[in-house]
Amino acid sequence: MWVFYNGEIILQDKVSISPFDRGFQFSDGVYEVIKYYPKKFFELEAHIARLKNSLNSLEIPIPSLDNIKQILEELITRNDLENSPANVYIQISRGYQFPRRHNFSPDAKPTFFITVEKFLSREKEKTNGVKVGLEEDIRWHRCDIKSTSLIPNVLSKHRAEENGLSEMIWHRQGNITEGTHSNICFIKKNQLFTPPLSNFILPGITRKVVLTLCSQFDIPVNETEININELKEFDEAMILGTVTEITPVINFEGSDTNLTKPGPICKLLQREYKKLCYE
Ligand code: PDD
Repeated sequence: MWVFYNGEIILQDKVSISPFDRGFQFSDGVYEVIKYYPKKFFELEAHIARLKNSLNSLEIPIPSLDNIKQILEELITRNDLENSPANVYIQISRGYQFPRRHNFSPDAKPTFFITVEKFLSREKEKTNGVKVGLEEDIRWHRCDIKSTSLIPNVLSKHRAEENGLSEMIWHRQGNITEGTHSNICFIKKNQLFTPPLSNFILPGITRKVVLTLCSQFDIPVNETEININELKEFDEAMILGTVTEITPVINFEGSDTNLTKPGPICKLLQREYKKLCYE
């Protein structure tokens, strides 16, 4: 597999990252996941803007991103992925630092790594809907930064899978925030409800696109707190993300809901989202 590593496109086994890289020592880094749909990188500018925000928030120097599109195109071509959807993973850590110290040196040179992989769409989940779980959100208070410090996400997602659930949805003292790798929205009486942007959720690009679609199709949007006690009021629920796309939720484990199958607004949003991806 061809990868991008610190300015060069090279074979994966030629990459060597120091064990003193702060990404390894402290999870001191950020990432982005971008979708390639033949022949475009979906919402590339929005992803790059969020990447820059994440880097700025962590005071990691921003590497030159002027030719990022050409780099991504070359990675797709070299890996023979032009004709299939693919996931692009951009990882930037603060870089090598020795000796190990918590405080970072201003001269650390970021480690910049990009891979692409074929995307296998989960059509069954998108058609039939998925079951999710609910857990207390124990993450830090800067979930708007796409940091590689993902231990709560890793553990919650692991617990979800162990229990036959597709995603774990978090709440802070009852108020729903987001999933381990997705945002969430609900439909009630033909209106969309989703937790507001704050430091407690990632400003998802899929969420943004879905809200734009809602305004185009006259679906009123309510960015508002949603309590786990209100789940029974909703007619539809969906998880949203670059990899998740728009996936209907038909069951919250252990909660009483009226969700049974993917609803009409979910289907409309899925159809329109697909058009944006492939047209
Ligand atoms: N995750 N919330 C969290 C915690 C996420 O990790 C993600 C995306 C989202 C949705 O954001 P977007 O629509 O911009 O992909 C929300 C990526 C896909 C991942 O970690 O693999």
